[in-house]
Amino acid sequence: MKILIHDTAEAAEKDTARRLAQAVNKKPDSVLGLATGGTMTRVYEELVALYNKKRVSFSEATTFNLDEYIGLPAEHPCSYHTYMREALFKHIDIPEAATHLPDGMASDPDQAAADYEAAIHAAGGIDLQLLGIGHNGHIGFNEPSSSLQSRTRVKTLTEDTRRANQRYFASFDETPIYAITMGIATIMDARECLLLATGAGKADAVAAMIEGPMSANCPASALQMHQTATILLDSEAASRLANRAYYEYVHPKGDDSVQL
Ligand code: F6R
Repeated sequence: MKILIHDTAEAAEKDTARRLAQAVNKKPDSVLGLATGGTMTRVYEELVALYNKKRVSFSEATTFNLDEYIGLPAEHPCSYHTYMREALFKHIDIPEAATHLPDGMASDPDQAAADYEAAIHAAGGIDLQLLGIGHNGHIGFNEPSSSLQSRTRVKTLTEDTRRANQRYFASFDETPIYAITMGIATIMDARECLLLATGAGKADAVAAMIEGPMSANCPASALQMHQTATILLDSEAASRLANRAYYEYVHPKGDDSVQL
């Protein structure tokens, strides 16, 4: 794992966006794995800013999002389809047909999940996977106890995750219980992973991911086995790392010089 600790959330978010843009500049037909959630909104703002400054184009890229709620139509204001359209897709030059999210309204969600996994393979696999992390250590919606060998499938969300996501819905009862999510093995197949975590609320999950034992109890800890995983943190998210001084010695101020 490459662990880059920035002073501020803004610096970590901008670095994440620059790394994604750099990967697309190097390989314009990149297959990108994308994430949603509060952490990613400013990453997408920065990507849109880079696009507007003509520093990156997505015209040849393909995207696969990690997850989508079951039972929400794509047009629902709280669906991840809507999140991605509003945060990124409608602002950049990616063809709509090149963007993919699981179908939360499929009559057979298990089949939809299997089809999604097959579509990722058919596209040649994911070049760069963007990830956030839940307070409980989840990546995608792979909640604690998820098999580290899991593939895209239906998952039941924990109460903790539903409470964290309730802010987007009118009430807890309206917050979906099920989602289709890429599995941990699906994520691990990505040729490169970029995980961003900001804020003190993520510090325990980040410490478990990086320094805890690899365990299904902290699904993100599977990234310890990934050969090209970069973890971007702000100072608060890094605050519970026992070996923080070492990570900062290797990459002072999170700098390992990404240029666009
Ligand atoms: C979203 C996703 C989740 C989030 C995680 C963090 O597509 O896969 O794993 O990345 O729940 O969410 P925020 O950023 O809202 O704290």
